[in-house]
Amino acid sequence: MPQTATPNDVEAMLANLARSAGRSPEAYLASARSTLVRILAQPDLLDPSRLVGQGPGLSRNLLFGTEAISVWAMVWAPGTVTPVHDHHCSCCFGLLRGSLRETWYRPISETHAVATMDAVREPGFVACMMPTGPNLHRIANDGPEAAVSIHVYGYDHRAQDSSIHRTYAVAAG
Ligand SMILES: [Fe+2]
Repeated sequence: MPQTATPNDVEAMLANLARSAGRSPEAYLASARSTLVRILAQPDLLDPSRLVGQGPGLSRNLLFGTEAISVWAMVWAPGTVTPVHDHHCSCCFGLLRGSLRETWYRPISETHAVATMDAVREPGFVACMMPTGPNLHRIANDGPEAAVSIHVYGYDHRAQDSSIHRTYAVAAG
């Protein structure tokens, strides 16, 4: 009979993922993806108080952090939109609740980018990217409900404020 996972298992999963951060990019992203898929499949393992926003805009609740990775529950109030941005580190996220619009961009300079793709992400969606690959996007909650996503970033939250490398103004395509 399969064992039922417990909240301690989430801590253990994330600690295991942190240890895999030194592996090849492909191996790390595969581990991050499978970890997010498992967490999204059992959201009741997460402390519900960490899945609540603190007002309008984007609320970031730290779930786990080491020098290698930081894991956040992000709560998106309706109307929240990020700047167009890229990342200085790996960026993996999965949608737990609600829906989010993700728009991808192509940089045309260090300050401007043009939109290339737009998609609405639903619960269960997982994306993983390295800073060396395409990773320039904007995320918006343009729906009526709050959305909750789980993010795994390859930075130490004690040393850096966020995963954002640069922000861009949108140029006409
Ligand atoms: Fe991002």
